[in-house]
Amino acid sequence: MPDALSPEEIRKHLAAARLGKKIHYFPELDSTNRYAFKLAAEGADEGEVVLAERQTRGKGRLGRGWFSPPNLNLYLSVILRPRLRPADAPQLTLTAAVALAESAQSFLGYPPAIKWPNDILVGGKKLAGILTESSVDRERLHFVVVGLGVNLNIAQHMLPEELRGLATSLLILTQRPVDRDAFAGELIRSLDRCYGELEQRGFPYIAARWESFFELKGRKVKVEMGDRQLSGTAKGIDRDGALLVERADGALERVIAGDVIPIQP
Ligand code: BTN
Repeated sequence: MPDALSPEEIRKHLAAARLGKKIHYFPELDSTNRYAFKLAAEGADEGEVVLAERQTRGKGRLGRGWFSPPNLNLYLSVILRPRLRPADAPQLTLTAAVALAESAQSFLGYPPAIKWPNDILVGGKKLAGILTESSVDRERLHFVVVGLGVNLNIAQHMLPEELRGLATSLLILTQRPVDRDAFAGELIRSLDRCYGELEQRGFPYIAARWESFFELKGRKVKVEMGDRQLSGTAKGIDRDGALLVERADGALERVIAGDVIPIQP
């Protein structure tokens, strides 16, 4: 198999990390999130990682798919068992976005942008996405699967027509192929560090870092929420990770789910 990922190589980058002690590696899965969710429901430990070379039914946010061709990119899911209230679960998605943005920055040499809630963009094109799925009942968060999809070595001409204007990759941006094991190792380490910081220093510490990547702060935006639309100025996030949008009448609205589109200029 050309340029396959190697769990042994990835582990060399992890040293004392709590996440990634066990890496489940597959040449093909329908979705690393689906597999990790099943493992977690059967009792897998916190920090177990699922990795696949390709996904046949990769899942994106809002019921969309995730383009997952073989041996080029990264499709990785991590099982977490945080001691958080179910209402605080979105904090993990934003924590993962910070970890992903910081890992991308160390390979790019400059910071990417985070588009709320958790898309990683460079030059307005998507480099990576995060899909967090939780098992909850009313008062307890049983486990959370954080799924990360990162475009690493896909070339422009390999992107399907409909993604060409929308997606990018580290290869496209840096003109250099990326060592995928090194990126996976850096990402798991970064997630490990950020998760520890969330536990020890609390969400405001993570939220401030998240906002440093949030380039729409202070800009006029339109938010599409199913059949509802909202426009106003993006102000930042609150302690639940909701997007705060100030409407023209001065009222502050909290957005929990939706697509944020900048309004020119
Ligand atoms: C998004 O729509 O932006 C989220 C995309 C998340 C994709 C990743 S790839 C690894 C993991 N497994 C999945 O099926 N989805 C996530």
